Amino acid sequence: MTLPDPFTRWRELVLSAGSQRYQPQRDLTFWQGKAAHYDESQPELPNTVRWLRADLQGAASLLEVGAGTGRLLLPLADSVPHVTGLDYSPDMLAQLEAKNSPPHVRAVCCSLEQAPNHVPPHDAVLSAWALAYQPDLRGALGTLRCLSRQRLYLLEDDGVGSPHVQLRRAQAGKPKPRRASLLREAVAALDWDVRVHSITERREVRLASAAALTAFARLPLPESEVLAALEPYLTREGQGWRYAWDFEVVALRVECAEQ
Ligand SMILES: C[S@@+](CC[C@H](N)C(=O)[O-])C[C@H]1O[C@@H](n2cnc3c(N)ncnc32)[C@H](O)[C@@H]1O
Repeated sequence: MTLPDPFTRWRELVLSAGSQRYQPQRDLTFWQGKAAHYDESQPELPNTVRWLRADLQGAASLLEVGAGTGRLLLPLADSVPHVTGLDYSPDMLAQLEAKNSPPHVRAVCCSLEQAPNHVPPHDAVLSAWALAYQPDLRGALGTLRCLSRQRLYLLEDDGVGSPHVQLRRAQAGKPKPRRASLLREAVAALDWDVRVHSITERREVRLASAAALTAFARLPLPESEVLAALEPYLTREGQGWRYAWDFEVVALRVECAEQ
């Protein structure tokens, strides 16, 4: 049996979300509610930032679509003279602006779909974990590419990084989303000139007790079972735990110059 094409599989994955965040208003409501605490729930990405900074050498302008709080964009800002962070969530952008972003960083509040009407093409365009609820992946990629004069960076992961999330999915009988692999297949199906980089990042969380660990992991298991399942990733620290794991960021670098 042949699999449906990657765009169809992506669409099926998006439409299978119980949260129905494929409805833009629902996704926007989610991000508006998440904005104030987004940064504390997310890992820093030092290796990804290092790789992007090196690769952005010579780019005069950078646009991130779905820039959110600027977690990734702001550490890149001093590598590029003109920087735009675009997002449809005003509250996510308000977090970005509250970080005293430098004057050459502009925040633009609009959707990916409307972006070509609001921002000019930039040398480099970045989209990091911002396509997860886009049913029309082909359309979204086409828009991103139109906005890019030289190169497009697509960052995703395969959802295999955090042990507690993998366990939660296994408990719920849900498969891993594998968005990075699907995105890679989609870009290949478009016959775009792409290079794939895998970047290892480390995440560490300190939790004061087994109860705090269980609450963090949101696993429907007793504390003793959570401790047993996550044991390879745990180190005792006083009364609490250091929980640490590695995960892979997949960076697709699409060459757009010939367009
Ligand atoms: C998972 S966050 C990623 C933020 C940032 N790229 C990062 O890595 O920290 C996804 C962001 O994409 C934005 N977003 C999702 N769909 C969008 C769309 N269609 N148009 C504009 N922004 C969108 C959300 O509002 C949110 O801020």
